[in-house]
This record gives sequence, C-alpha cells and structure tokens, in this order.
Amino acid sequence: MHTLPQINLYTHGTQWSASHGHLAFFGAYATIIIAMFYLGVQRWRSGVWMSGDLPGNGWKWKWALGLLNLGMIGMTVSMLVSGYVQSQIERAIEGSTWMGYFAAQIHPWFVQGMWWREAFGVMFLVGFILLVWDLLTIGKGESRAMQPEVSEN
Ligand code: HEM
Repeated sequence: MHTLPQINLYTHGTQWSASHGHLAFFGAYATIIIAMFYLGVQRWRSGVWMSGDLPGNGWKWKWALGLLNLGMIGMTVSMLVSGYVQSQIERAIEGSTWMGYFAAQIHPWFVQGMWWREAFGVMFLVGFILLVWDLLTIGKGESRAMQPEVSEN
C-alpha cells in the first residue's frame, strides 16, 4: 500500500519508510550474509566440525541470534509508530508545511517511538558484539574434520 500514490503522498520519506527499508534489508540480505559468514569461517578454520560440543552449548550465537532479531523488530516497530504519527500530523493534518514537520517531531508519541528505537538499538548492538565475538572464536581449537559431503554415488 506504501507504493500506491494516494498512500505514498502521506508516508513518503517518513519513519515509516525507514522502518520498512531497514526491516526488509535485515531479512533479505543481512540474515543470509551472516549465514555465509559462518560457512566462510568454517572453511577458514580448514573445515573443522562446528555443529556440536560448542563451549557453553553455543550460548554466544544463540544470544546473538535472539538479541539481533528482537532488537531489529523492536527498532522497526518503534519507527513504524513514529511513522504513523508523522503521516497523520505532519502530512494529513498540517498538509506537509514547515510547521507541520515540527508539530509531528515534538509530538509525544513520535518522541516515544524514537526513544524505544534507541533502547532496542542498544539491544541490537549487544547482539552484534556477541555475533562478532562468536565469529572470531567459533571452531577455535577444534580438530575434528567436518562431515564429508555426501557423494552422489
Ligand atoms: C527485499 C525487499 C525490500 C527491500 C530490501 C526494500 C528496501 C527499501 C529501502 C531501503 C527503502 C528506502 C527507505 C528510506 O528511504 O528510508 C525502501 C522504500 C520503499 N519501498 Fe522497499 N524494500 C523491499 C521491498 C519492498 C516491497 C515488496 C514493496 C512494495 C510492494 C516496497 C515498497 C517501497 C516503497 C513504496 C518505498 C518508498 C517509501 C517512500 O516513499 O518513502 N519495498 N525500500
């Protein structure tokens, strides 16, 4: 619906777009790139066994996964709430005027959305640090070779 001109007139370039863009990029590209990083790290460690017996039951990647996904959903839902306020106040009520822009920017619901976005951003950052730490350490000290690829014959 964002694509329809009659709706885009109100939502274009608001936090609504930023919410859509970041959530879509995370789902479509970031997640698959993270998966590729793990495959790359396994090869980099000369193809060691990485799927079992991880120290601490693999707590680092599990917490990274949870914090990154919850953080991203929290950030984009918060931005969406702010985007609704912007579309309604700045665009629909105030008619995209200079003062309308500021009326929306100082509205408590807009401001709250921005603060929630920041809080979830901190959650995302913690997940990101854990992800990098996990990528740098996973499979370290492992000597078993990964399972051979199943051959066609
Ligand atoms: C892999 C899927 C997608 C990705 C990665 C993506 C990404 C983005 C990004 C980065 C923006 C710019 C956001 C900004 O200006 O802050 C955007 C805007 C937009 N996207 Fe997507 N998008 C995806 C799918 C879609 C789909 C399926 C639709 C519609 C059916 C759509 C409709 C739009 C529209 C209309 C805008 C412009 C918003 C505006 O007027 O400000 N997108 N998208």
